[in-house]
Amino acid sequence: MQLAPPGHAGALPEPSLEARAHSDRVVAYIVASIAAAGGWISFADYMGAALYAPGLGYYASGTRKFGAGGDFVTAPELTALFGRALGAQLAEVVESTGGDIVELGPGTGKLAADVLGELSLRRVLPQRYRLLEVSPELRARQREHLSGKVPALLSRIEWIEVLPERWRGAIVANEVFDAVPPQLVVRKSASWYERGVALDGGRLALADRPLGAGPLRDAAAALFPPDGDYVSEVNAAAQALLTSLALRCDAGALLLIDYGFPADEYYHAQRSGGTLMTHYRHRALADPLFLPGLADLTAHVDFTAMARAGVGAGMSVSGFTTQAHFLVNCGILDLLAGVGDVQSIDYLREASAVNKLLSPAEMGELFKVLMLTRGEVTPGPGFRGGDRRNRLDRVAAPH
Ligand SMILES: C[S@@+](CC[C@H](N)C(=O)[O-])C[C@H]1O[C@@H](n2cnc3c(N)ncnc32)[C@H](O)[C@@H]1O
Repeated sequence: MQLAPPGHAGALPEPSLEARAHSDRVVAYIVASIAAAGGWISFADYMGAALYAPGLGYYASGTRKFGAGGDFVTAPELTALFGRALGAQLAEVVESTGGDIVELGPGTGKLAADVLGELSLRRVLPQRYRLLEVSPELRARQREHLSGKVPALLSRIEWIEVLPERWRGAIVANEVFDAVPPQLVVRKSASWYERGVALDGGRLALADRPLGAGPLRDAAAALFPPDGDYVSEVNAAAQALLTSLALRCDAGALLLIDYGFPADEYYHAQRSGGTLMTHYRHRALADPLFLPGLADLTAHVDFTAMARAGVGAGMSVSGFTTQAHFLVNCGILDLLAGVGDVQSIDYLREASAVNKLLSPAEMGELFKVLMLTRGEVTPGPGFRGGDRRNRLDRVAAPH
């Protein structure tokens, strides 16, 4: 996710009257949920409603999220070379499994078009490329984009609304797991609380309530540093989603690309405020209650938890590295060189986008790529040649 460059941090753009009215409807929905729950809902339930309440939530209503006119720009939106490099990785998975590709949360459809374009060039097209998308607005946008970019491949593209019962081939999730609502746990003066949302003078407010013994407290106690005041996320839903994907896999690779860390870095003593972020019009804000329904909410991904969930469901960790290493290994610099005249505007535009994807100061280090596999799957270029500084030990070490 790419936000505004420094210096772009002026006053926040005011929402239109229509947008504000929409946010008011989302707030009313959340207020009703709080009342129905007896005065308090967990943060996960709040974020679930703010992002996914049918017809209301950020990802479930018709406003424009992706790109320059939205709230953030993701890697596939920056340059087609991201999808083409990923295509190099997926080509080997498709070839070695003879399977299909399923993309979770496919955004505008740009990644799908770029991956399919690359697979077509390499003559290793899957029979089916499935897009798991629940938003009718985004489905229409994806169809329009794909019809324009890869019309000859439309017959291979299929939209689905639920996870496939079984899958063989590849599952791709770019910036999806950061959008899965986590629970927030607080340790303050050696006592445990769960952070949620309640009403204070009729307005939404964060509210902590004591957290008794049980799985959530046990999970936080195992993850958090041994002592000190600390707030962070525990994402049981992300683990459950990954487990569910892994259990349904007959053979193939699950590729998860997102921002996050292995657990030791995620739950570092210095990261005592957690990783929750609100994105609104290319700004990162700290307040998760800011304009519900108009702002995106995300938390970083704990890749150790994801790897363990996969291994627990019988998959193996076959690769874990930074986005920069992965993309360079997949040949993104050769693809860039192929763009043409280095003096041209086209080349400069692509080079600037590739720099954002690779630079340690931007997306190169914070974003990671995790590959879980089941059965005979070749590791692919992303985790093979070139820079081999994969850090499997960081996510695959026994707990
Ligand atoms: C930040 S957007 C990323 C979109 C796109 N992958 C990209 O890179 O531009 C996150 C997307 O993940 C989707 N999402 C969240 N949870 C999901 C789930 N459990 N299954 C499928 N999609 C999900 C959201 O609806 C949203 O469209």
